[in-house]
Amino acid sequence: MKTPELPPFDQQPHKYSGPLLDEVARLRKEFLNPGIFLYYKTPLMLVEGKMQYVWDDRGRRYLDALGGIVTISVGHCHPHVVAAANEQNALLQHSTTIYLHPNIATYAEMLAAKMPGNLKVCYFVNSGSEANDLALMMARAYTGNYDIIALRNSYHGGGASTMSLTAHHTWKFNVPHSFGVHHALTPDPYRGIYGRDDADAAKKYAADVKELIQYATSGQIAGFIAESIQGVGGYVVFPDGYLKHAYEHVRAAGGVCIADEVQAGFGRTGTHFWGFETQDALPDIVTMAKGIGNGCPLAAVVTTPEIAATVTKRTHFNTFGGNPVVCAQGKAVLEVIERENLQENSLKLGRRILDGLENLKEKHDIVGDVRGKGLMLGVEMVKDRKTKEPAKAECAQVVENAREMGLLLGKGGLFGQTIRFAPPMCINEADADFIVDVLDRSLAQL
Ligand SMILES: Cc1ncc(COP(=O)(O)O)c(C=O)c1O
Repeated sequence: MKTPELPPFDQQPHKYSGPLLDEVARLRKEFLNPGIFLYYKTPLMLVEGKMQYVWDDRGRRYLDALGGIVTISVGHCHPHVVAAANEQNALLQHSTTIYLHPNIATYAEMLAAKMPGNLKVCYFVNSGSEANDLALMMARAYTGNYDIIALRNSYHGGGASTMSLTAHHTWKFNVPHSFGVHHALTPDPYRGIYGRDDADAAKKYAADVKELIQYATSGQIAGFIAESIQGVGGYVVFPDGYLKHAYEHVRAAGGVCIADEVQAGFGRTGTHFWGFETQDALPDIVTMAKGIGNGCPLAAVVTTPEIAATVTKRTHFNTFGGNPVVCAQGKAVLEVIERENLQENSLKLGRRILDGLENLKEKHDIVGDVRGKGLMLGVEMVKDRKTKEPAKAECAQVVENAREMGLLLGKGGLFGQTIRFAPPMCINEADADFIVDVLDRSLAQL
């Protein structure tokens, strides 16, 4: 098999003249959090990006099929987004919400227009963890209840309250964090107890939420939080209708429903703008981050006026949340998604990649499962299709092999056994074919 070639791209990178890779690695080792990890045995230093591509310090180009961990939604340094941020940077960088500013107000109107139902009150913060922290506080303040139901295999952040929601030992420190969180079964049609062949899987998994409420709480809860497709957990897509059924049990117990759209939102699933819509569900609170800003520290919580009213009993303030620059960038992102039909592109190219991945499953026994929606796709690797023993080392090797051919991939799942694809939504057909070809060859090289 011929080594796949990166599709042509009409841009020469700038010559990099900063500190050398070894020096940067040394500085990082000495002065940065020793707990952060690097992908790749030989570290990669990225210094430039344009649309779906990035360049390293030596001027080598890569297709970024992880999008800076699902954050580059419309493309690296998209000209419209860069222009909007630059213009605002030159005019007024910061003011805070104690004064009026047109950007936060007009952006909130644009974002609310994207929401279904009565979800129309926006709160801006700086990260997904902060958004989920605020959503938890809202659920508790609104209902007067404390307990929260989250899902196993979820990731909702690394702050004190969100770490308690997250259900992966890898991301949980052995210190006390917020209590009152209970984790229901992961509605995982591949690894879970109810598989794809079970027509009632959605209802059965949702029944576990009801049982958990009955056994682990007073019967009255503050809320339920779930990613619409589990991201860090390895792009686990729930059985159709799971969220809708789970929400019914939560509401019957006095709780509100929180959809974490940090990875699945903004058109990435292809068929819908929001991931929860693929589940025929309507949440009471939606949290968003990552792709909302295409790389700037912008995140949001959107809820109903009734729930928002409870957050007026005390002052909720966030210094940087929704500052003029990030709101200009957020507006530009929404404009690009619409103007360039990026949701439709996610659908079309997601299908093309998924078809290719299905073929690879036929060809390579190590591929246990292929799944996803739009440009949020996962390939779970197993040593044995019967026992489903996670193929962790092989998965890491595939990611290494792909890098050698110019493709950057992600890993996910409790054991790091799932390859994740979440490229910027601007990729084209040649990129999609390149992704599949490189994966094919990377698997063959094992
Ligand atoms: C689904 C989900 N929610 C929340 C977060 C936390 O976001 P942040 O890292 O911006 O705090 C993440 C981060 O990966 C995420 O994937």
